[in-house]
Amino acid sequence: MSNVELIWPNKDLSLRASGKCGYEWVNATDIRLRSPLVLETSSRLAPNSNVLAIGDGLDVLEALTSQSPIFGEGIRLVYIDPPFNTHADVRQYSDKMNRPMWLSMMRERLMALLPLLTENASVWVHLDDAEVHRTRAIMDEVFGEGAFVASVIWQKKTTRDSRAAFSTNHDTILVYAPSGPKRWKTSRNLLTKDAEHLTNRDDDPRGPWSDAPFTAPGIRKAQQYEITTPTGRVIRPPRGRSWYATEPTYQNLLADERIWFPKDGDGSPRLKLFSHQLRGLVPFTVWGASDTGTNDDAKRHLLSLFPEHEVFDTPKPELLLERIIHISTNPGDLVVDLFGGSGTTAAVAHKMRRRWMIAERNLQTVANFILPRLRHVLDGTDPGGVSEIYSWVGGGNFEIARVAPRLGNLETDSEVALLETLFRDFAVRKASLTA
Ligand SMILES: C[S@@+](CC[C@H](N)C(=O)[O-])C[C@H]1O[C@@H](n2cnc3c(N)ncnc32)[C@H](O)[C@@H]1O
Repeated sequence: MSNVELIWPNKDLSLRASGKCGYEWVNATDIRLRSPLVLETSSRLAPNSNVLAIGDGLDVLEALTSQSPIFGEGIRLVYIDPPFNTHADVRQYSDKMNRPMWLSMMRERLMALLPLLTENASVWVHLDDAEVHRTRAIMDEVFGEGAFVASVIWQKKTTRDSRAAFSTNHDTILVYAPSGPKRWKTSRNLLTKDAEHLTNRDDDPRGPWSDAPFTAPGIRKAQQYEITTPTGRVIRPPRGRSWYATEPTYQNLLADERIWFPKDGDGSPRLKLFSHQLRGLVPFTVWGASDTGTNDDAKRHLLSLFPEHEVFDTPKPELLLERIIHISTNPGDLVVDLFGGSGTTAAVAHKMRRRWMIAERNLQTVANFILPRLRHVLDGTDPGGVSEIYSWVGGGNFEIARVAPRLGNLETDSEVALLETLFRDFAVRKASLTA
């Protein structure tokens, strides 16, 4: 645990959602916090339900923990992409919070998530320079300094802002694993090697392959022997090295056509490696746009799905979420996002056959983006993002849930009407699918 702590006014109070998009400082003993949150769901939630929750992320966590079984097996991955607090104008939500509130908002969510995590879980928090350094101090406090795994730099754009002092083109994603990086490493997945680098230079019926030197460091007696190349040249291992395997193993590999002699059969032997024999790659901490997409790629994807809407201002590309989910989870694991936005996390988790729960507070964002996007994913009518990589043709399902805030004003009549419409349309569609 850290003996250094970031402090801010009201840190000892609780910050709870109030009304449509506000927050209120409250004392932990405040009587209003004693009343249970009202959880409304499209159907009874099962332990393996995917859930789109409408409401404040902290309220949603509290309500689902106490009133549903969905966190029973624990959360394997938390990815959160909160408002960065840049004080910029964003059309779909406010990005202008006072700093003590923003810090408490983050700390309370991380603290609420901690007891729900599996042993091999990781928590990825996506931010920019506005609050990332303060958030790292908070994450050290909540998870312990020893839980820090990496800060990933994601290249979010490839265009230059020529008016700025620096043209910032990256975000930072802080990665923490409460079990610590050494233990977490044993359960995380390596990146798969790009199959494009494999070739089939000898028309091997087993498919394309990569190659590696057939040597190993050091002198091992059983691995010092002569090899005759197809051109008749007799060679021994290079100085200070041995062949990669003993002579009988070499003969077996040769008979199995697993040895490749470059330079038209005159070069030193190399070992052929097929895709299933290649060890994956340990992820770098710098993720380029060509591998993980940009904000603009994400916007283009949304525009292709919803040409009639103004585009969501801050979506993340599916390729970015794909990499995060691939590294940190396996099929069937639960992925949680408390700041749903346009629904990227749910869409990608669904296509990758993970379980998911996302929360989004802005009802209009749910109606305009998340629900219709997930409908496209389920119907197999979203060919963009990672659909092709996962041969996604549709399927699966999810439930919707609603948690009203305890504090502040209730919804306006038009919001109540929109909520009723969303639940009704959802039920009608589900009934038609099961009919
Ligand atoms: C940066 S966006 C997330 C973008 C998302 N990752 C995507 O790819 O589209 C942040 C989202 O969090 C939502 N939000 C803000 N405060 C929230 C809260 N307390 N609970 C739930 N959602 C919240 C905003 O309405 C906004 O849609």
